[in-house]
Amino acid sequence: MARKKPMLHEFYKMKAEGQKIAWLTSYDFPTAQFAEAAGMEMILVGDSMGMCVYGYEGTVPVTMDQCIVHCEAVRRGAPNTFVVGDMPFMSYQISDEDAVRNAGRFLKEANVDAIKLEGGVRVTSRIRAIVDAGIVGVGHIGLTPQSSGQLGGHKAQGRTAESAKLVIEDAIAVEQAGAQMILVEAVPPEVTAFITKQLKIPVLSIGAGAECDGQLLIVSDLIGQFTAFTPKFVKQYCNVAEVITHAMRQYVEEVKNGSFPTDDHCYHMIKGEEGKFADLMKQYQQF
Ligand code: KIV
Repeated sequence: MARKKPMLHEFYKMKAEGQKIAWLTSYDFPTAQFAEAAGMEMILVGDSMGMCVYGYEGTVPVTMDQCIVHCEAVRRGAPNTFVVGDMPFMSYQISDEDAVRNAGRFLKEANVDAIKLEGGVRVTSRIRAIVDAGIVGVGHIGLTPQSSGQLGGHKAQGRTAESAKLVIEDAIAVEQAGAQMILVEAVPPEVTAFITKQLKIPVLSIGAGAECDGQLLIVSDLIGQFTAFTPKFVKQYCNVAEVITHAMRQYVEEVKNGSFPTDDHCYHMIKGEEGKFADLMKQYQQF
């Protein structure tokens, strides 16, 4: 029997009971199916699709339309998983109105359960506007890839007391603005642990240690599909790049040496049609 989709209040219960939430990115229908079958409670249709699916150098070029198409596919693959749409660069930076309109598109067009947006203190009015529109909002602080230019690259945050203070202030601001969950990326575990104790909302980590309410990984890192670089916090559970390349190499070899396809891979004439087909060939051969 299909499981019931976990809802927001269940994540709060999990936090209270010390049960960890498992969260993974996914960008397509089959991977979403696998994630749901594996027992993932949440899926993020991340703008990391920019690198993992489209081959861009970063997340900045990703558009709303791309995010919507991938969210739709993931929703179809994982109907009983809590799906979070990731707001791409420039979909919420200009105004609260823009933020609400674009957050609403994720729900209306792709039927996701929540949206995520990057930033702390500086995006509180966006978070408030989105949540006031009745949309579940997930904050994202620490290393925020969309503003990695300002952060001096994809660098861990909060590694000095002064920088940790900024991360903590961001976390408090995001909760006070009404976000219902928060993701902390690439900050020291002790900072995440402190934030997790201070906040009532579930605190999830990507590269921010174990002492929090759950973990997020990028699926392409977890399965060894994204090979350009691997951040320190990634644990690779298998190597599909190797498996797929090996399979494709074998296919190339077999096409070239004629061992594929064999008789097993062919559709044969329906019984009784062989004679008629032989006559047909003879007719053509007369010309
Ligand atoms: O887009 C994404 O996958 C993300 C993670 C890097 C947290 O936002």
